[in-house]
Amino acid sequence: MNNFIKGLPKAELHLHIEGTLEPELMLEIAGRNGIKLPYESVEEIRNAYNFNSLQEFLDIYFDGMKVLIEEKDFYDLTTSYLEKAHSQSVRHVEIFFDPQAHTARGINFETVINGIDNALLDGEKKFGITYKIIMCFLRHLDQNDAFKTLEMAIPFKEKIIGVGLDSSEKGHPPSKFKDVFLKAREEEFVTVAHAGEEGPSEYIREAIELLDVKRIDHGIAILNDLELTKYVAEKRIALTVCPLSNLKLKVVDHIDKHPLPEMLAKGLVITINSDDPSYFGGYINENYEAVQKTFGLGVETLAGLAKNSFNSAFINDEMKIRLCSEIDEYINNFE
Ligand code: ADE
Ligand code: ZN
Repeated sequence: MNNFIKGLPKAELHLHIEGTLEPELMLEIAGRNGIKLPYESVEEIRNAYNFNSLQEFLDIYFDGMKVLIEEKDFYDLTTSYLEKAHSQSVRHVEIFFDPQAHTARGINFETVINGIDNALLDGEKKFGITYKIIMCFLRHLDQNDAFKTLEMAIPFKEKIIGVGLDSSEKGHPPSKFKDVFLKAREEEFVTVAHAGEEGPSEYIREAIELLDVKRIDHGIAILNDLELTKYVAEKRIALTVCPLSNLKLKVVDHIDKHPLPEMLAKGLVITINSDDPSYFGGYINENYEAVQKTFGLGVETLAGLAKNSFNSAFINDEMKIRLCSEIDEYINNFE
């Protein structure tokens, strides 16, 4: 089944570009930028990736990305992700970036967006991977900071399809960002939000009702609210689920405790994604493989998950139909 997953055309809809920074590249960029890291080797870095919570991960994640200074650093980071994505049959990607984590260190918004966007542009030419960019607000910061970030993004509107919400979830409900999300919608950004990862199902409801999100990132707490589950399933609001992330951050104790089977049984539109693959021990295919193996998912379910990824992407219907027919063709030719 791993061979089937390997060649299965798919989209990745929940991917933080800063979470793709592999230790090798971290050391290389730190070296050329003259940055002293608290680690000497790739092994030491990997050994530090043991987390008991989202916050423990975030502390290391924000630290690691401090090596990114120049436009070329963002370009190289994104290019290296695209090479990996191409090798895993990713046809379309919608990537998150965290501008505030960079602007707070004195890096220009323009440096970040241009580095990422140029790499995606070149990646589309080289690999045929189409893309969208989503800018996330850090929810541990205040709404004012998010407003300033939105202002910075407006001149780059053509390059950014939407806004999202990430970082420390508990104690930072979607309602805290209601006004800035309204302004973002007025500026014609689509909206998404991390909700129900470590936080309660109530945050998922808020994200839908107050932020008008078109997808929920994670959303695995949704099953605690059956009425909401029914609503989200009926409205076909997709959830971008990241199984290895949930395991690594101890949101679930064991992969066989992951709520994916129940979420599928409730008719929710589920997509499989990698979140921060460098930190969580696997890219998108390792995430598909983990749930396939644990829950014995068959070809039809896997293809359904991949079709969900295309149908829930921020692309036009013509593209959705073309990409889904690539899946059908793949299945027909698969030995
Ligand atoms: N930023 C990067 N990865 C994240 C996650 N899994 N949850 C919240 N914020 C994040
Ligand atoms: Zn995430």
